[in-house]
Amino acid sequence: MASRGNWGSKLGFILAAAGSAVGLGNIWRFPYTTGRNGGALFVLIYIGCVIVLGLPVLLAELSLGRATYRNPVGAFRAIRPGTKWHFTGYLGVLTAVMILSFYAVIAGWTVGYIFKTLAGQFNGLEKSGVAAVFSSFIGSPWLQVLLLAIFIILTAYIVSRGVAAGLEKFSKLLMPLLFLILVLLMVRSLTLPGAEKGLSFYLKPDFAALNGRVFLEAMGQAFFSLSLGLGTMLTYGSYLGKKESLVSSAAWVAVLDTSVAILAGFIIFPALFSQNMAPDQGPGLVFAILPVIFSHMPGGMAFGAFFFLLLAVAALTSTISILEVPVAFLIDEKKWPRRKAAWLMGGVAFLFGIPSALSGGGMAFFSRLPLLHVDFLTLWDKAWGNVALSVGALLVAFFVAHVWKTANALQEITAEGARFRLARLWAIAIKYVCPLLILAVLVSQFL
Ligand code: PHE
Repeated sequence: MASRGNWGSKLGFILAAAGSAVGLGNIWRFPYTTGRNGGALFVLIYIGCVIVLGLPVLLAELSLGRATYRNPVGAFRAIRPGTKWHFTGYLGVLTAVMILSFYAVIAGWTVGYIFKTLAGQFNGLEKSGVAAVFSSFIGSPWLQVLLLAIFIILTAYIVSRGVAAGLEKFSKLLMPLLFLILVLLMVRSLTLPGAEKGLSFYLKPDFAALNGRVFLEAMGQAFFSLSLGLGTMLTYGSYLGKKESLVSSAAWVAVLDTSVAILAGFIIFPALFSQNMAPDQGPGLVFAILPVIFSHMPGGMAFGAFFFLLLAVAALTSTISILEVPVAFLIDEKKWPRRKAAWLMGGVAFLFGIPSALSGGGMAFFSRLPLLHVDFLTLWDKAWGNVALSVGALLVAFFVAHVWKTANALQEITAEGARFRLARLWAIAIKYVCPLLILAVLVSQFL
């Protein structure tokens, strides 16, 4: 165990787990998905998914990881050796590499935007100017691949240096700062003329917008944002000592993560509607509106550059947690040295990321895939970020509840006298609600 590394303290763990959860999922993906799915109603369903599905699965993953002190593949093997259950772990490893591949492209956008704002490229621009800068930026193939490479290299470097030293240090200081900046931006956005229309889009549910896709996207977003369904939280749990309370850690992570996402919506939608911009334009949404907000603030560009820097750091604490999944697998199961595992898996994610990097116009084929009529990045985001994560979460919930059994999981959760008042509710959620609901949403999508 000592050789696997461990979190320095419970606070270190919460910060690292929250660092994993809080990232582009909250500030980039949540607003663009909300915008595409009609606004307030999506937000309601999303919050429902976090409580009913996210929290129970989060506890399931943490307990499975800490009970076995293993990576996702090893954890299933340890509990049910000789069965096929460890393929759930393999699915997680694959999903991790695929999510990292496009996530690092968006993270590269944040890095690019640090320099663009610093260089004053958005100075004095209104929405059409910002849109032009953005589309020429994502349409530059070499730049996009370069930024992807830079982000993967940063990630692989930190992961190659190991658990406590690598992961913990980066999460500690910058998150509170990011939160503060988000609050300031929210105030600016809410006081723009015409902001009320955005608020009503964000807060007043329109039940006419309801359809099956909204449920899949809300559920997928909940798992994505909480880093669930691919074994990230399982792996992070495996580095946690028995003394720490899984319940309060999980609650902290969920509350922090959800507040940041909700906050991001309070920045994006009032500003969008005040500029008469469409909320459903997809993955480019926040990159098209944020510079407009900055240009309406005194000293906005310096502020903007700092914001994108913090966003890049938030993305980095997430990418290291994604890469940690395949790396922990290779270290534990294949006895690879950490360095080799980190660089090799980073390399694989880079290669798979190239189509996403070219999908913003760098190569026509990937900007609009034949037959599907969608760009590669959006496709990858939905396929791995919604569907694969949901399948992973379904399998984890089913495994913990019906194969490992809730009694064993609860024993782990309440180890060393930790209290869990809602134990019975959790057991019901993980046994019945999670598997059935996830399955129903998935099946309804493909029928
Ligand atoms: N939760 C992260 C975010 O919201 C992304 C992530 C997904 C991290 C899956 C780890 C695993 O940005």
